[in-house]
Amino acid sequence: MGLKLWTHCNVASMQAGADQPYGLMADAALVVEGERIAWVGPRSDLPAELLSRCGEQHDAQGALITPGLIDCHTHLVHGGDRAQEFEQRLNGATYEDIARAGGGIQSTVRATRSATPARLQAQAEPRLKPLLSEGVTTLEIKSGYGLALESERKMLQVARALGQEYAVDIRTTFLGAHALPTEFAGRADDYVDEVLSMLQVLHGEGLVDAVDGFCERIAFSPAQIARVFAAAQSLGLPVKLHAEQLSDSGGAQLAAQHGALSCDHLEWLSEDGACAMAAANSVAVLLPGAFYFLRETKVPPVELLRRHGVPIAISTDCNPGTSPCSSLLLMLNMACTLFRLTPEEALAGVTRHAAQALGLRDRGVLATGLRADFVLWDVQRPAQLAYGLGANPCMQTIFKGTPR
Ligand code: NIG
Ligand code: FE
Repeated sequence: MGLKLWTHCNVASMQAGADQPYGLMADAALVVEGERIAWVGPRSDLPAELLSRCGEQHDAQGALITPGLIDCHTHLVHGGDRAQEFEQRLNGATYEDIARAGGGIQSTVRATRSATPARLQAQAEPRLKPLLSEGVTTLEIKSGYGLALESERKMLQVARALGQEYAVDIRTTFLGAHALPTEFAGRADDYVDEVLSMLQVLHGEGLVDAVDGFCERIAFSPAQIARVFAAAQSLGLPVKLHAEQLSDSGGAQLAAQHGALSCDHLEWLSEDGACAMAAANSVAVLLPGAFYFLRETKVPPVELLRRHGVPIAISTDCNPGTSPCSSLLLMLNMACTLFRLTPEEALAGVTRHAAQALGLRDRGVLATGLRADFVLWDVQRPAQLAYGLGANPCMQTIFKGTPR
């Protein structure tokens, strides 16, 4: 006894190299022991011995079961919003114009620095809840709107607190190298020194799971990012990079040299960058919300990524400036419509490849021994998950073996 059984379901295991697209198994069964998957496969193959040990039995009512969704790139904890800049952009200003005039990331820095932790958390919750209602079980949250020790710490602590209070696994990323704070104007290299010292402290406090940077003409140069990555690596922390979003700065090559888990955005990625990513097995995290919201016209080179075998993940990039988005399902649709991913690639992008982008090997597919994070969907076929606009067919989410 003690095992839990789900039947009357179709399972999309999302296993790489499975016989069927999506690793689809009709009339499947899924057995959970504690927080792990004990068995998954066609119901007719379920060993009688295992069945006899199943206590709790769940009728999934014909649901499609997929791995829990993973949103691998968000700035979900931040103060305020930037609706006013949205209006400015509609009147002709560009994202870079606004950033250079002291708005953009800097305006969110002001709002984040002045917010109490309780206020920051209260503002983050309405962004988190819709993601949870869509079956998100693992969520990455970056710092990067504090840009000073105390406020970067505050952001990371709020991110950790969300993981304590909600049934979701939160992975934190230190993004001190997001923008140059005004007090360091004209002294970018001094600020990089400060980033290194913040990293040391925040890592010591157990607040950092990974390190990110923004490599761009309005942010940091490859040489400056290289210093941050070297420091991260000396602490044993994995790195990732906002790369080639607005221009080709060679960030992808740099990140690949440091064995980056992922390079994110990538609209301007070159073939050399794609080759470097392939060689380093870095994931390409595509962010259709930011592409859409900034009305970009240069589409990330999906064909190049496919040709070089670079795994593709999809994420919301939930942030106030370029992607005020709390729907990962909408991103599936937009990855297909805007970037021409197949629905199967898009779903792999929020499961198997999103797990890889976070360096997590215990989730993202449904297989024996992995975490029992999965979602029951009221759909007939997996493509429906990418098909709807504003639809949420999530019936139930199981987090570490327990319905939430
Ligand atoms: O992922 N590209 C840099 N950072 C964020 C946006 C930051 C902002 O505008 O607040 C992004 O797009
Ligand atoms: Fe981002």
